[in-house]
Amino acid sequence: MILQHKKLVDLLQKAYSAEKAAAFAYQGHAGSLKNSEEVKNIRQIEIDEWNHRREVLELMNHYGVSVSKYYEFRFHVIGKIISASCYVIGWFMPFYFAGRLESGNVCEYFRMMHYFHDLGIKDHDQVLYEMGMKEKEHEIYFLRKIRDSRYLPFFEKIFAWGGMKSYNDVDIEKKYTLENSDAYCRKEAV
Ligand SMILES: [Fe+2]
Ligand SMILES: [Fe+2]
Repeated sequence: MILQHKKLVDLLQKAYSAEKAAAFAYQGHAGSLKNSEEVKNIRQIEIDEWNHRREVLELMNHYGVSVSKYYEFRFHVIGKIISASCYVIGWFMPFYFAGRLESGNVCEYFRMMHYFHDLGIKDHDQVLYEMGMKEKEHEIYFLRKIRDSRYLPFFEKIFAWGGMKSYNDVDIEKKYTLENSDAYCRKEAV
């Protein structure tokens, strides 16, 4: 079956490559840290991102969606730059920007679910739900790390993410069930 949904095809290709950028970024992030607990946690998050990439590829292969050479190149470069920058920008910023990025990634998987639903396909709800929730867990991990930092109010004001602002409407304490999760990420602003 060919996916007659331009936005969905693009989102799959973009997510596949962006997961690589994230994994590269976390390699640098883990490498720049001294605290062994933090290193362990970031390495686990890196593994999660490689798993996401594999799962997105399975979806793409299922529908004959090709890997985008453009996104692969672009996100390779982005990931490597972020990875290297982690060694020079201090402790706070890698945690902050990782959290901000993860916050946006949550809705990518719920939007993918919406697009599949547009085509009447519900077969992938479970895997998309789990990937979206995993990104939410990542966001929360990073937020907890920086929540008490004196830099947060300033960064939250400038970059619009932090204790008060998120890029998604998922509340991990009161999660919707899989069946109701189509309601996530419907608002323009999230
Ligand atoms: Fe991911
Ligand atoms: Fe993530």
